[in-house]
Amino acid sequence: MIDAERAKRLAAEAAFDRVTDGMYLALGTGSTVEAGLPRLAARVREGLRITCVSSSERTVRMAASLGLPLVDLDTIERVDMLVDGADQVAPDLAMIKGRGGALTREKKLASIAGHRIYAIDSEKQVPVLGNTWLPVELLPYGWRFTVAAIRRTIGAEVRVREQDGAPLRSDNGNYLADGRVGTVAEPARLERTLRAIPGVIETGLFVGFADLVIVSDGTSTAERQNPVSRLERGGAP
Ligand code: 5RP
Repeated sequence: MIDAERAKRLAAEAAFDRVTDGMYLALGTGSTVEAGLPRLAARVREGLRITCVSSSERTVRMAASLGLPLVDLDTIERVDMLVDGADQVAPDLAMIKGRGGALTREKKLASIAGHRIYAIDSEKQVPVLGNTWLPVELLPYGWRFTVAAIRRTIGAEVRVREQDGAPLRSDNGNYLADGRVGTVAEPARLERTLRAIPGVIETGLFVGFADLVIVSDGTSTAERQNPVSRLERGGAP
């Protein structure tokens, strides 16, 4: 059993230590990112000049409270680096994300960032993705039909996240659901199938996005580099 809180902090701090002067930095969402933000803020106070964009209102609140310089994504022309967390990471660095509900903005930022670093505690490493809840963002219009279609696709239970007895809204004003998936041997294929359902806005399957995963067991950190660089992939995703 590892000290997950300490592991998240060590991994996130190692990720934020890679940020250099002048960068446009995208901030993910969740307890791991938040555990590393005080260290980043300390570096900014010491003179590091960066400009941050955020994947969620939650991260905006914490980053702002720490005095990190934040701008709207549509006011900048590039994003140099993304630091985010993940829920599961497979050996090929395919991931499940979105437990914190920010999957759509997180994937958008991952699709444009020059270098994508994911910080995790070691217990999030899995031999194969799945056997967990897969987050999906849904258009509210006709959502019951969308949920039924997802249920037919994955052949298992789908739950819509709720708050005060009503569907919870994402920062984008949409609904969030979680589907109980079995082993996901072909995440790219499941991603395509789910995204083809009208009303599905985004899924928590992140395939081909991680350039570097920093893993900590609470004592030390290790790096898992994506062997296929973004350049070799023709820049996408
Ligand atoms: C939010 C995410 C998070 O990165 C993911 O859920 C990990 O969260 P945490 O760092 O709290 O364990 O995808 O949408």
